[in-house]
Amino acid sequence: MCGIVGYIGEKQAIPIMLCGLEKLEYRGYDSAGIAVIENNKLKVFKTKGRINNLKELLNNNGYNSSMGIGHTRWATHGKPSDINAHPHSSNSNKFAVVHNGIIENYLDLKEELIKKGVKFISETDTEVIAQLLEYYDTGNFVDTVFSVVSKLQGAFSIGIICKDNPDELIAVKKDSPLIIGLGDGENYIASDIPAILSKTRKIYRLDDEEIAVIKKDKINIYNFNKEIVYKNVFTVDWDITSAEKMGYEHFMMKEIMEQPKAVRDTIYPRIKNNKIIFDQLSLSENDIKNLNRIYIVACGSAYHVGCVAKYTIEKIAKIPVEVDFASEFRYRKPLLNKNDLIIIISQSGETADSLAALRESKKNGVKVLSIVNVVGSTIANESDNIIYTWAGPEIAVATTKAYSAQLVVIYLLALYMADKLGTISNDIYTDYINELLKLPDKIESILKRKDELIDFCKIYFNSRDIFFIGRNVDYAVCLEGSLKLKEVSYAHSEAYAAGELKHGPISLIENDVPVIALATQDDLFYKMLSNIKEVKARGAAIFSIAVEGNTKIEQVSDYNFYIPTTCDIMLPSLSVIPLQFISYYVALYKNCDIDKPRNLAKSVTVE
Ligand code: M6R
Repeated sequence: MCGIVGYIGEKQAIPIMLCGLEKLEYRGYDSAGIAVIENNKLKVFKTKGRINNLKELLNNNGYNSSMGIGHTRWATHGKPSDINAHPHSSNSNKFAVVHNGIIENYLDLKEELIKKGVKFISETDTEVIAQLLEYYDTGNFVDTVFSVVSKLQGAFSIGIICKDNPDELIAVKKDSPLIIGLGDGENYIASDIPAILSKTRKIYRLDDEEIAVIKKDKINIYNFNKEIVYKNVFTVDWDITSAEKMGYEHFMMKEIMEQPKAVRDTIYPRIKNNKIIFDQLSLSENDIKNLNRIYIVACGSAYHVGCVAKYTIEKIAKIPVEVDFASEFRYRKPLLNKNDLIIIISQSGETADSLAALRESKKNGVKVLSIVNVVGSTIANESDNIIYTWAGPEIAVATTKAYSAQLVVIYLLALYMADKLGTISNDIYTDYINELLKLPDKIESILKRKDELIDFCKIYFNSRDIFFIGRNVDYAVCLEGSLKLKEVSYAHSEAYAAGELKHGPISLIENDVPVIALATQDDLFYKMLSNIKEVKARGAAIFSIAVEGNTKIEQVSDYNFYIPTTCDIMLPSLSVIPLQFISYYVALYKNCDIDKPRNLAKSVTVE
C-alpha cells in the first residue's frame, strides 16, 4: 500500500526520507519518489521500481534541502510508471503532493480543470490535487490548501509542499492514516509509525478531517472548519516489528481488521448518484445483452468467490455461470462460444494456472474480464477488461481482505449487469445499492465482537477434524472457511453442502466433532435446522452462524454467532468474517506460523 514520509528541520531531508521509505517497503509498492525545496525551487525525483532505483536517480543529481515529502506507491489509478509515481507537482512546479487513498470525485474535478485549460500528464487521481492547488492558489499556502481540500471526496492522507513556503509542510487526513512525528527543532509526517520510529517515539495522531501546518519548531492543527485542535502527545512503546503490524501480532489479524476499508475503497468510488459506474469497462450494454454464458476461473479463495458469484449472478442477472478451478479449466477443453465471457479472479494477478486459463481463453477468441488486486500485474495487463479490487497489498499468505474486496466486486458486477438487462426493478436495484453502501459498517460491527469467538476456539483448537456445512451461498462461504482453517491451522477440515451429508459424509461425525453450520439464508433456514439436528444427534458440537433475530438456531446449537441483517446476496461478506477469526484463533492456540503457513506461498507462479 502507498506510504508517506515527510521531514522539516535542519538536517539533510533526503537521507531521512529514504530511510523512512525503506521502513515502509514491507507494505509493498511499485514506485517511489521524493520532492524537496532547494533554493526556492521545487525538485521532484521519482521512478518506477525499487527504492534503490530512486537512490541511483538521486546520486546522479545531488541535493541540499532540509524539508520535503516522500512516497512509495502501490498503483490504483494508472499503471506503475515513472509518471504515475508520486510526488505529483502542479504545472508551474509550485506545489508538490504525495497522497494515500482514493479521490473518489477525481474524474469530475479533472474534467472541470481540463475545460479550464489545465493540462494533466499522469493517469492518477492524485495529480488532480496538485493541479487544483495551482488553479485555486490564493497566494496564501494554508488558505489554498483549505479551499482545495473542501472540493475532495473520498479517503485521503496528503503531504503538500509549496516552493514559496520552504519553512512549512502541510498534512491533511481523512479516512486514511497519517501521523506527525515530533522532534527537537525538526518534525516528521508519516503514514505509518515504522517510517519514523528510528527518529522519534513521540507522535501526534491526526484524526479525520484535520489539517496540520508543520514548521520545524511549531505545529498548528486545525479541523476542516479551520478551528484549532489541541492534541495529546502519544509515546510509541512498540518495537519496529509490531509497529509494522500496527500493534497486531500478525498481518493476518491486521488485514482482517482492515476489511471495512478494503470493502469501502472498492465500493464507494464506483457508486455515483445511486448508479454503479465502472471506469474503463469496455463491456457495452449490447455485449451484456448478447452474453451466452459466464465462466469464472480462479484458484483457492478466489475460486470460492467464484462459487458465491455463480449464485449471485444467476439469481439477479439471470446469466448462466460456470465456475472452474483454473488448473482444471485449461485442460478440460471447455466448449467456449464467442459470446461467452471469462472472468478471472486473482489477488496477485500472477497465479500461473489463472494466467494460463486467460491465455487459453483469448486463443479461443473469448473476451476476458479480470478482477485483480495488483495493478499492472500480468493478468491485469493481458485482460480485455479489468476491475481492480482496492484492498491494498496483502502480506499474510491467507487472504482475507482481498477475498472480501473480490466479493463486493461480484455484487457490483452482478447488479451492473442486472440493471443493463432489466432483470431487476429500479426499486430493488436501489435497495441493493443502499445495502452495499452499508456493508463496511456492518463488517466493522462484527470485527468489534471477535472475542465472542474465542471460547469455542479455545475448547476445540486441537480437534483432528472440523466440518463446515451450509446451503447455497452459505455452502460457498463454508468452502472458504474450511480452506482458511486448514491453511493456517493445519486442522483437517471439509466443507459440505448440508443436503449432501446423508449421502456419505455424515459417517464421519462422532462424539464431540466440531461442526460449523452456516444458516444465514431465510428461505433455507428450516432445512438447515434439520441438517444441524442430524449431526447433533450423532454427537457433533455445533457452532452456528445465523442472522440476528433467527434465535431458533439456539435450539440446535451449542455456540452461536449472529451477523447483522443485510440483503440475501450480500450475506457472504458478513458470514465469512467469524470464519476468518476462527481460523486465526485456532492457529494461534496451536502455535502455528500464521502469516507464513508451511508449504505455502503468497503467489503461486508455477503450475
Ligand atoms: O493471487 P490469487 O488470488 O490468484 O491466488 C489464488 C490462491 O492461491 C489463493 O487464493 C490462496 O488459496 C490463498 N492463500 C488462500 O488464502
